[in-house]
Amino acid sequence: MNRDDSAPLSILSFGDPRLFRKSEEVLSVDAPMKHLIDRMFETLYVVPGIGIAAPQVGCNLRFFVFDMNRRAEPGKRKPVTLINPVVTAQEGVVTEDEGCLSFPGIFIPVERYARIEVKGFDLDGKEIVLEGEGLFARLVQHEMDHLEGFLLSDRMTPWDKIRLKTRIREIEKSGKRGFRGE
Ligand code: NI
Repeated sequence: MNRDDSAPLSILSFGDPRLFRKSEEVLSVDAPMKHLIDRMFETLYVVPGIGIAAPQVGCNLRFFVFDMNRRAEPGKRKPVTLINPVVTAQEGVVTEDEGCLSFPGIFIPVERYARIEVKGFDLDGKEIVLEGEGLFARLVQHEMDHLEGFLLSDRMTPWDKIRLKTRIREIEKSGKRGFRGE
């Protein structure tokens, strides 16, 4: 059980029911949510990923955090919180290996739009529009899947599932045990 308010958060693993829910729209940003977001960033800088979606820390609201510069020194980081994101344009198709913090150690090829434009809100309720390709486009599509309760496992081919069966079962078992054993 994690009662330390400043420690990095645990990322829920595949198997935890909170990951499969469709998240709800954010209607206001209050102090507890700001605090949660701070902790999501603290967590982001210690895990091997570039983004964390709210459901992965047990919060079924439509937002995610990311930092395309996560490996940079603290002064050069670019933390972004995107709230109630909506894709406004997309083009091209590209298939690359993709992983997820909720599926540690698993990477599978996933087809995504090559370039996307996404609209959403920042913490102050100001509208922001972001666009890009490559890893950024993949990240946004991946995190938006999380907000729909759609996971990497839903992107696997039957052959991926056969090949990764043992590892997926292990992760699912730990996910069903829940957030730090709670
Ligand atoms: Ni993920």
